[in-house]
Amino acid sequence: MIHSSSPGKLMLFGEHSVVYGNPCIATSVNKRLDVYVEENNEILIEGMNKISKFPSNENEHKFLNLTIEKIFEELEKKGKKPNKKFKIRTTQLEKGIGSSSAVVVSSLKALSHFYNLNLSNEEIFEIGFKIVNEIQGKASGYDIAVAVYGGTIFYQNFENKYRIEKLKNLKNLLAIYTGKYSDTTELIKEIHEKFLKYPEIIKGIFEITNEIVKNAKEAIENEDYEVIGNLMNINHGILNSLNLSDEEIENLINETKKFCYGAKISGAGRGDYIIALCKDKENLKNLSEILNKKGIKNF
Ligand code: PMV
Repeated sequence: MIHSSSPGKLMLFGEHSVVYGNPCIATSVNKRLDVYVEENNEILIEGMNKISKFPSNENEHKFLNLTIEKIFEELEKKGKKPNKKFKIRTTQLEKGIGSSSAVVVSSLKALSHFYNLNLSNEEIFEIGFKIVNEIQGKASGYDIAVAVYGGTIFYQNFENKYRIEKLKNLKNLLAIYTGKYSDTTELIKEIHEKFLKYPEIIKGIFEITNEIVKNAKEAIENEDYEVIGNLMNINHGILNSLNLSDEEIENLINETKKFCYGAKISGAGRGDYIIALCKDKENLKNLSEILNKKGIKNF
């Protein structure tokens, strides 16, 4: 049995702007998705509590279907044949922290091993990015990069040239669930419409975001948590100006204030997770307890 696993992710700085070739900073989280592959007499896919034959008609298996297709393409490119069949099983990662990227990356890794393809991390990243692009449309690929490389990364995809640099990990970062689903594809479209309508303004906003990311990279390397927090607040203000927050999210952000150096939306906006950089372990514990009492999921 082959086992591989990939971490979930959170965006720290630069969401949306990264889709336009600018850099962002993102991090993996301490929740992972596992994939198991074993030889079988037919190709079976098991995930999201459903089992089906490949190609699966289940909507939930669309990432796995395409991943298997891409692995077969890679075999063909190398003049090999899929001479054995397998059963692939994936565990679940909760929504909002990169379940699609984690399932794609860990399945690519496991199947690469199963067929002795020896795909490098760079190859897994590039194939994974293609899969997510084909299914979700316009995206930066940062989530795939986090699933491949883990840790905290500075990421830029400028005209398909990738820059991925490992940074120090942040301490005392709390992820807080907003209770709502965030539709990344729709929100990317919404920002694109704004970009077409007010190009100079949005370009200006992305230039400022660039500056925030640059400063944040330096502050993370210097472990200057007050500066990181300030930059999170500024980045959040920018996302709010693009109408990516709402009343409930603002209330949640305000609730974190006295425990934190900064807090912001993480990802496309209007749902999924917000992140809060707590002043220390004690503040993190206190904030987490208050949220738990209110039934607000956090980790
Ligand atoms: O909410 P998420 O994790 O899907 O992140 C979206 C971040 C965007 O910058 C809006 C899109 C992307 O692909 O980078």
